Amino acid sequence: MIAGRLKNEPLAYILSHQGFYGLDFKVSRHTLIPRPETELLVEEIVKTKPKNSIIIDVGTGSGNIIISLCKSIENKNTYYGADISPKALQIAKYNAKRHKLNSKIKFIKSDLLNYFLNNLTIKPFNNLIIVANLPYLSEKIYNCVSKDIKKYEPKIALLGGYNGLDCYKKLFKQIKIIKKSCYVLPASPAGGRVTCYVEISPEQKPKLEKILKKYFPKSRLKFQKDLAKKWRVVEFSI
Ligand SMILES: C[S@@+](CC[C@H](N)C(=O)[O-])C[C@H]1O[C@@H](n2cnc3c(N)ncnc32)[C@H](O)[C@@H]1O
Repeated sequence: MIAGRLKNEPLAYILSHQGFYGLDFKVSRHTLIPRPETELLVEEIVKTKPKNSIIIDVGTGSGNIIISLCKSIENKNTYYGADISPKALQIAKYNAKRHKLNSKIKFIKSDLLNYFLNNLTIKPFNNLIIVANLPYLSEKIYNCVSKDIKKYEPKIALLGGYNGLDCYKKLFKQIKIIKKSCYVLPASPAGGRVTCYVEISPEQKPKLEKILKKYFPKSRLKFQKDLAKKWRVVEFSI
């Protein structure tokens, strides 16, 4: 263990677990180590006490977000955790089982929302919540992260292309398609409201404001700061 730490191996990987939102999660080198600032995403959704909603956690990793939500919300929602990495999904499934939620959360291998776009299981819907902590570091920031992170945490979980926004731009396009598709379904009396909660890197706020206004001109954007007073979450409904 000491030898690992001397080589910059993060403690969470040495011990194979990490606390998040008062729960314990198994982690491996195939999953990002859950960060305390990500708890803000969970807090914001829990506050709204969602009912009869479909909740999709895109880029679920160890399953920390969707499992924390499912544990904290006493309601009949449908829960999905999606990730492109089969090895991360194995860990997420293990964590769901450990927290006795394996029958409540479906874990799906999907490139962003592709599975849901090609599959009828989420249609029709009245209220869809999309929560995403996708890789958002720019190349510049990724090049400066500590050795602990660079040597051990999965690059696919961290690097979001040149300015860090590659995954989010694709995700917003997909959300637009999902929203359009619900209008043609008569069984969606509420018109299929989609609410999104996205974790960001603080310096991305101005750029994201522009991108989101382009994709969703009628939505009101709510940016939130984390405990370190850095812009960390953007929320919007369409
Ligand atoms: C920043 S990590 C977040 C993990 C976890 N949700 C958390 O908060 O700790 C991003 C996750 O997104 C996944 N990911 C990366 N590209 C993806 C894609 N195109 N589609 C789905 N998941 C993706 C990675 O495998 C990784 O698990």
